[in-house]
Amino acid sequence: MTQNLPRPLSALHTDLPSHGPQCPPSACCIGQHPSPNPEPYLMYDILKLLHLIAAIVWMGGMTFMLLALRPATLAVMEPQPRARLMAQVWQRFFNVVLIAVVVVLATGGHLYAGAAKAAHASGNGLPLGWNLMAAFGLLMVLVFGHIRFAGFKKFQRAVAASEWPVAAAAAATIHKLVVLNFVLGWLAIGAVRLLR
Ligand code: HEM
Repeated sequence: MTQNLPRPLSALHTDLPSHGPQCPPSACCIGQHPSPNPEPYLMYDILKLLHLIAAIVWMGGMTFMLLALRPATLAVMEPQPRARLMAQVWQRFFNVVLIAVVVVLATGGHLYAGAAKAAHASGNGLPLGWNLMAAFGLLMVLVFGHIRFAGFKKFQRAVAASEWPVAAAAAATIHKLVVLNFVLGWLAIGAVRLLR
């Protein structure tokens, strides 16, 4: 059966000696697979892949916005058409982020809860990096909620009413909060990759 499994699944299947179906998150298997059975491996891998895709979409979108779109529109556009363009861009981007947030929370929460249960049963704790990622992630979700449901609403209303100073102030707040989330995102990624 292990011959049919792609590496690293086959390697784990044969290399990990004594793990029950609820393998505790110990140094040998945490961050890899919670169980030696291929099906839980696959479920774990699929959830982690979805988690990664959502994080990449969110982080990639912020990278594009902060490093390409914003400086380009500042360089070539007048403030009012620029505000109208950003209202359209943010509307679409924040809808995508909303989906990414749901996926990050659902997959991350599921992976985290499963590992925390196994860790508790075996008397171990979860790696610091996992806890930091979850904390930074939750903070990012709160910041995003504020951007989407407070700052962006205010910006949209101001653009619709042609209240340009109000729109400019709301856009500046959105920009600062997106920068904050960008930094928190990299801290989350650094934590989960470096603090095992
Ligand atoms: C909101 C709460 C979050 C929770 C509960 C959570 C939970 C988890 C868990 C349990 C894993 C599996 C770790 C492993 O198998 O090594 C994981 C992986 C990962 N998460 Fe999160 N996560 C959250 C948010 C985020 C955010 C916001 C980002 C990035 C912006 C992120 C980036 C990653 C990355 C890059 C991995 C793969 C790490 C690796 O393969 O070593 N997570 N997450």
